[in-house]
Amino acid sequence: MNQLIDPFNRKITYLRVSVTDHCNYRCHYCRDEEHQTHTTRPEVLSFEEITKIVSLFAKLGVTKVRLTGGEPLLRKNILDLTKMLGNINGLTDIPLSTNAHLLASFAAKLKDHGINRANISIDSLIPKRFNKITRNGDLTKVLKGIDTAIAVGMSPIKLNMVVMKGINDDEIESMIDFAIDRAVDIRFIETMPVGLAGIGAVDRHYSEKEILERVYKKIGEKLVSTTTKQTDGPAKPMLIDGTNTSVATISAVSNHFCNSCNRVRLTAKGDLILCLGQENSISLRDAVRSSMSDEEINNLIINAINKKPEKHFFSSAIDNISDQQMVEIGG
Ligand code: 5AD
Ligand code: SF4
Repeated sequence: MNQLIDPFNRKITYLRVSVTDHCNYRCHYCRDEEHQTHTTRPEVLSFEEITKIVSLFAKLGVTKVRLTGGEPLLRKNILDLTKMLGNINGLTDIPLSTNAHLLASFAAKLKDHGINRANISIDSLIPKRFNKITRNGDLTKVLKGIDTAIAVGMSPIKLNMVVMKGINDDEIESMIDFAIDRAVDIRFIETMPVGLAGIGAVDRHYSEKEILERVYKKIGEKLVSTTTKQTDGPAKPMLIDGTNTSVATISAVSNHFCNSCNRVRLTAKGDLILCLGQENSISLRDAVRSSMSDEEINNLIINAINKKPEKHFFSSAIDNISDQQMVEIGG
């Protein structure tokens, strides 16, 4: 079997697939208040096209495909896609990233289709604040989504909290308690200056160092290193002794983890994005809609991976960062 390897000797085994750039929420760090998604159906990859592209990646050694958005559960008939992806040889892991607003009604079927685990965005446990951060999100629905996912046996479930100074940083401790209570994992995420709204959130930046100080103060003596909770991503989780909960931070800005990057992204419109911090992309939609053979598309993918940049420049060159919204790129 072939294996995609980029010029910096990184194996590309992970493809993030945005299935829609629509979202029912408008989190401050992800989309501007007035941002509208105008994408129309023909512009978006069909399920057949996604399946074809993912199959090509699987033949090139990709084993993990994350479904993301926008909000992936908004994509019409998404369960048809999960079924199609579940039949692709070579894929061993198909996780979902969701805001969980609709998860309660999908969880059981997703699990049936082999979507065993989920990352769930939740930035506050205070209903009014949650509603404000997400610009009209419904915490009750999200909590129901989380509890249903737990009840149907999706595991591991990871809660993702984007920590923002003066907005929700006072909830780090209560989020840890919530995660312990539900026996799920919790990850604290630094805001990234990606997309217009992300750049706007720069003044709310709360660093990994500040996050970790708070975490250590609360549960420092109980943190033990763990390998069982380690995935192939940038987070280095620590287990809270006596619980089934791990804590991790994701710090794209403070901490360059680019040297272990194993991923590329496919947008809903079929652009292959090689690095979140840079604008390089090629259209795989044009490729699959052309008369190119599978072998020619394979070569196109291999050539693209050969152009994967060494690292992002979040801290040094704001100009380098896409002026798209994160909701369009795939969170
Ligand atoms: N900074 C950090 N994370 C972001 N996300 C979206 N925008 C940003 C940003 N500017 C991520 C968060 C969120 C997921 C959907 O996308 O992790 O939970
Ligand atoms: Fe919020 Fe996620 Fe929707 Fe962005 S994609 S607005 S982070 S729920």
